Amino acid sequence: MMYRFVFTQVLSRFDPEDAHHLTVGALRLLSVTPVVKRLVHRRLAPRDPALRVQAFGVHFPGPFGLAAGFDKDAGCVEAMSALGFSHVEVGTITAHAQPGNARPRLFRLIKDRAIINRMGFNNAGASAAARALGRPRGVPAVVGVNIGKTKVVPEAEAVHDYVASARELAPLADYLVVNVSSPNTPGLRNLQAVELLRPLLQAVKEVADSTPRRTPLLVKIAPDLADGDVDAVADLALELGLDGIIATNTTISREGVSSTETGGLSGRPLKARSLEVLRRLRARVGDRLVLVSVGGVENVDDVWERLLAGATLVQGYSALIYEGPLWAHRIHRGLSRRLRRHGVRDLREIIGRTAT
Ligand SMILES: Cc1cc2nc3c(=O)[nH]c(=O)nc-3n(C[C@H](O)[C@H](O)[C@H](O)COP(=O)(O)O)c2cc1C
Repeated sequence: MMYRFVFTQVLSRFDPEDAHHLTVGALRLLSVTPVVKRLVHRRLAPRDPALRVQAFGVHFPGPFGLAAGFDKDAGCVEAMSALGFSHVEVGTITAHAQPGNARPRLFRLIKDRAIINRMGFNNAGASAAARALGRPRGVPAVVGVNIGKTKVVPEAEAVHDYVASARELAPLADYLVVNVSSPNTPGLRNLQAVELLRPLLQAVKEVADSTPRRTPLLVKIAPDLADGDVDAVADLALELGLDGIIATNTTISREGVSSTETGGLSGRPLKARSLEVLRRLRARVGDRLVLVSVGGVENVDDVWERLLAGATLVQGYSALIYEGPLWAHRIHRGLSRRLRRHGVRDLREIIGRTAT
């Protein structure tokens, strides 16, 4: 209610990217005030034991986390954890710092509860992110690190570029994600083809496996892959011994929305396809891989549906802009109530229950 007022009266009048920077600035402020941060964490972070999830050896206080793209430079991990996200996936981070595409590059589709972005991996690079991630934290946080290809690096040298990021960041990550699915780096999504993806994942996995705790490795895929290609990536992930798949990134489809801005579309219009890809993955891999579902998640019903369909973790980004800072807290609280109502004491009882 309060946030809706702030959104319509203040934030929506700003250019979307300026509003984002304003928000991130406020969150950074929260991160540097230890007492407030701890108080907020105590009040808003998930605490119900029934919400706890274990995936690839990592303990998450709840299933619902912040998707990649919000915290590109790992500057507000603590703040977002304090606000109730069970994990924060930072990035996409590239080996070299880069400015991203020209502005404007972020667009709100308010009526469609959607976002279009063509940010193009604007970030300060792997070394800067490593410094941010290396700082001690005042509140507990689970951090995924999402890596991508530096724009100026040619496709033929992509493996080397990803490996450079992985070397810097895998030791600092609770899990590592190879992002080959953003539509805003030319040629990036070609890396989803199995012939190119195999050597890339093999090389990054070698790095991830060599850290003292062995960093779990996941791959993030696009919703625009043909069904057969979704299966092929799933088979490859199994063959290489990956820990999981994140599905999905933004779509290049414009079905159901009126905007023709180029970039990746996210939010409500992505919901159906994201769920479809999750169901397909679950049918293919069962519980042999951890499935992380993202795309169009807005409320407890959506999270519940994804868990039943086989996701162990669920993420969201776009709806945060429309729902405000209490969004993750509300989702976990609602989930907690629903679990109690169904007499469920452990999330494992419901994960994959409606999967075929
Ligand atoms: C502004 C914006 C920037 C994003 N940047 C990234 C990114 O850098 N890396 C990535 O893997 N996904 C990125 N995403 C995709 C999200 O992580 C997520 O996969 C997608 O938005 C679908 O979830 P949603 O409908 O809840 O937003 C971005 C999304 C948005 C809206």
